[in-house]
Amino acid sequence: MVTKVLHRQQKSSYQIKFSENFNNFIRRNKKKYEKIAILTDTNIYRLYNNIFKDNNILIIKIKPGEKSKSRETKTNIEKFLFKNKFNRKSLLVAVGGGVVGDIGGFVASTFMRGIDLIHVPTSLVSIVDSSIGGKTGINNEFGKNLIGTFYNPKEIIINKKFLRTLPRKEIRQGLAEIIKYGIIDDKSLFTLVERIDKDFLNNSTIIINTIIADCIKIKVTIVEEDFKESNKRVVLNFGHTIGHALEKHFLYKRLHGDCIGLGMLIESKISYLIEQLSENEYLRIKNILQKFDLLNLKSTKFDIKKLINYMKLDKKNKSNKIAFALPNKIGLIKQKDGLYVTEIPEKIIISAIREVLNEFKNK
Ligand SMILES: NC(=O)c1ccc[n+]([C@@H]2O[C@H](COP(=O)([O-])OP(=O)(O)OC[C@H]3O[C@@H](n4cnc5c(N)ncnc54)[C@H](O)[C@@H]3O)[C@@H](O)[C@H]2O)c1
Ligand SMILES: [Zn+2]
Repeated sequence: MVTKVLHRQQKSSYQIKFSENFNNFIRRNKKKYEKIAILTDTNIYRLYNNIFKDNNILIIKIKPGEKSKSRETKTNIEKFLFKNKFNRKSLLVAVGGGVVGDIGGFVASTFMRGIDLIHVPTSLVSIVDSSIGGKTGINNEFGKNLIGTFYNPKEIIINKKFLRTLPRKEIRQGLAEIIKYGIIDDKSLFTLVERIDKDFLNNSTIIINTIIADCIKIKVTIVEEDFKESNKRVVLNFGHTIGHALEKHFLYKRLHGDCIGLGMLIESKISYLIEQLSENEYLRIKNILQKFDLLNLKSTKFDIKKLINYMKLDKKNKSNKIAFALPNKIGLIKQKDGLYVTEIPEKIIISAIREVLNEFKNK
């Protein structure tokens, strides 16, 4: 199966291919490119060294984890490419999770002003989210993903066989984004995920394929409409206004999925308090997050004032007010006067946080 992604604003397109065998993929691209380098992390290299055996392909290994999204790693990758005489006719293939994809994309977009890039996502997060949409980047001392580019790959190769070796906690990270897609855009996806086995990979191939394909379609459609995040793309930020503030509050030591899990619940509560979301739908969101263990932060203490101050730094804010992308109902983000963000007074945000935390007290 092949999905074609059009970028009208950029007058370009690329393909998302499902289940192509890795050796075929390399053979096909060797005919096209003079030099190919594969960027991966040491975990993936260890697990899949059989597919990296081709002697004519250069392999660049980085350490797994968020710390590799740094200027230092970027410089090291660039030095490797220069030493091996890479040029504009060369190809960089990012085989890995979001870390490898984000830094690989950033290197490809700036090396000699841009070389071809192909994503082979191996984590659930990278399959349903980070490999699509063209955002690349690294972190610095001021925060996450603050330096980067918008740069599309030539292809994305999706092969869900990689998920067999993905640790459970990483599957949970992907499920958080999958639930988000259901809430912002697709009620039937939400209902399907409500019904499936808690252990994602225990579900039938057809169900897993459907869920992955639905998520990819949602992200592709949204970024096709608004590549540079001037309006519609902010819907992907549901749960992330509070989620990012929680990540910062916990000094990035808590998992992204746990932070946006609680973030989605509190933002749903805000929507309920301003009389958008019904109580029944709020409870459905709470139940699905609980089912997939995405409310682990519910009894962890945090400073609400500090959290609000972090939210004030959010990119969506226009004035001093905090802006959210909030659902009207499951499957639909509220739109007013053509805009997808809603400014919410601080006292409502504080009430929503308190109410949610109270719901879990002594339980
Ligand atoms: N560009 C975007 O639009 C976008 C969107 C969402 C997230 N992100 C970024 O993506 C990153 C998170 O992505 P992630 O969750 O994939 O993290 P990750 O790349 O750190 O991967 C998570 C862990 O799983 C391991 N792993 C990956 N695939 C594996 C496999 N098949 N088998 C066994 N282990 C495997 C990795 O080695 C790592 O230890 C963050 O840096 C985030 O900022 C970017
Ligand atoms: Zn996220």
